[in-house]
Amino acid sequence: MATLAFDVYGTLIDTQGVVSLLEQMIGGQAQQFSRHWREKQLEYSFRRGLMQDYQPFSICTRDALQFTDTLMATELSTEQQQQLLQSYGTLPAFSDAQPALDALQQAGHQLYAFSNGQAEAVDQLLRHADIRDYFQSIVSVDAVHSFKPSPSVYQHFLHQSRSHSNKTWLISGNPFDITGARHAGWHAAWIRRDPDQPFDPWEQQPDITLSGLEALHAHLKPA
Ligand code: LAC
Repeated sequence: MATLAFDVYGTLIDTQGVVSLLEQMIGGQAQQFSRHWREKQLEYSFRRGLMQDYQPFSICTRDALQFTDTLMATELSTEQQQQLLQSYGTLPAFSDAQPALDALQQAGHQLYAFSNGQAEAVDQLLRHADIRDYFQSIVSVDAVHSFKPSPSVYQHFLHQSRSHSNKTWLISGNPFDITGARHAGWHAAWIRRDPDQPFDPWEQQPDITLSGLEALHAHLKPA
């Protein structure tokens, strides 16, 4: 039986889900805005981790939104920014998430959500997407005041789940998360949702690469 740690944003939950709301606000710039926003949010988490100047992930999200608004000169009002941040709490799940989680649970694996987000925010997000009940619990980096891919957060996960690195899999759409987990001695499945996205030239590579979550259970031995 494997312990499966699912990354949340970009793996189970589609962060591009804000695009339709952005389209109403800024029209054709929406896709580019959404991409910049996500990249800056992650950059802020990396920088805060390195500087050991922790703030919750929601602050990285908020500050990255403000930065992107200035960068792209979109002049979003405070109300619009508030609306976008609220929509971040109700992002949709990818359509393959529910059937994949169902199959993996039936195969006897232990499922956890493992995220940069604070546990309460992730709990609400997964409930809203109707997939919360598949997870034994939500493990957040918030408890160790750092972010992925700091080794401390992967260690924290093992401690919380009482699992061992050699029977733990990270399931993630984010290459930096995959290298972090492999560096910590875990197995890792990269969910390459964008077929044009290359993996980083790094010492650590994923054990398996899949285009979506659906085929995952076929690659993991049942309990
Ligand atoms: C998370 C970020 C990496 O959910 O997307 O942890």
